[in-house]
Amino acid sequence: MRGVRLREMPAEPQSTAPHTFAAPVEGLETGVLLHRSRHADTVLAEWHGLPVVAKRIREDVAGEHERRTAGQGILREGLLLRRVEHPSIVRVVELVHDPATLVLELCPGRTMREELRLRRRLPATELARVGSQLATALDHLHRRWIMHRDVKPANVMYDGERAMLIDFHLAKEPGPMRGGAGTRLFAAPEQILGGHVTPAADMWGLGIVLYRAASGRLPFHADTGHPQLTTRPAPALDRLATSRFGGDLARAEQDLPEELATIIDHLLALDPELRPTADEAHQLFDSYLRDVEAEALETA
Ligand SMILES: Nc1ncnc2c1ncn2[C@@H]1O[C@H](COP(=O)(O)OP(=O)(O)OP(=O)(O)O)[C@@H](O)[C@H]1O
Ligand SMILES: [Mg+2]
Repeated sequence: MRGVRLREMPAEPQSTAPHTFAAPVEGLETGVLLHRSRHADTVLAEWHGLPVVAKRIREDVAGEHERRTAGQGILREGLLLRRVEHPSIVRVVELVHDPATLVLELCPGRTMREELRLRRRLPATELARVGSQLATALDHLHRRWIMHRDVKPANVMYDGERAMLIDFHLAKEPGPMRGGAGTRLFAAPEQILGGHVTPAADMWGLGIVLYRAASGRLPFHADTGHPQLTTRPAPALDRLATSRFGGDLARAEQDLPEELATIIDHLLALDPELRPTADEAHQLFDSYLRDVEAEALETA
């Protein structure tokens, strides 16, 4: 590929050979495959010379119905993303209808998942800044009555300065839902169990991202692999019988400022109504950042 160098790749590529789509799109030059999910391939690409990422249904999806559904999913994601505009939400460069291809701006940096694999934890100020940016992005979505429903480290791009939300394929309006949507160990209990799901479910996801960035671990045990537990909330696996909060940072991470630990623990409140809204979370993180700045000035 011309402009996009391997060193700058945002994710671990699946292979270093360029990935080709069977039905090419004019103006789109494809590079390496970044990610293959159950329904889509995401590749590094150039759109008329501009570095981008292209998401397209996997060519090995079998069956007319499955292919149509997967294609519609990609178009839905693109149409929904076009309704929003925020510095911490990935932007659509082009949405090609046939073959359904979503062309997105290339977000700088790497996924938060990879970032935390390399750095394990983020220092408090950086953590609060990430929290504030993602909370404003969620506030922008929630005001438009959209829930992301899959907020997790692999769906956040981060370059050390700005965190950006990607992957809107599960995004939806709030309302009654069957259980099970989202990623286990990251999805809110009410989203896993089913019922009336509100924007508070995304605040739980934000809580998990920040919990991991604060402590280097997830608040809940890994999947036990027990079939009957896969539809139960991961929190049920441990401390939830005795606590109103899924998080325990204030107690477990003594070196984390208590104010910050408390915000994150509240994002992980089991009762969705007890979680701060996106707007409240944004204000809480900003107020923490202002306090830190004021203290630094005092001691200078
Ligand atoms: N705009 C972007 N800029 C840079 N990298 C991106 C971008 N969009 C996606 N990626 C990379 O591709 C990966 C897959 O993207 P995305 O999560 O949207 O696909 P998906 O098929 O819905 O995946 P899954 O269902 O497994 O979460 C991301 O984890 C990230 O590494
Ligand atoms: Mg994803």
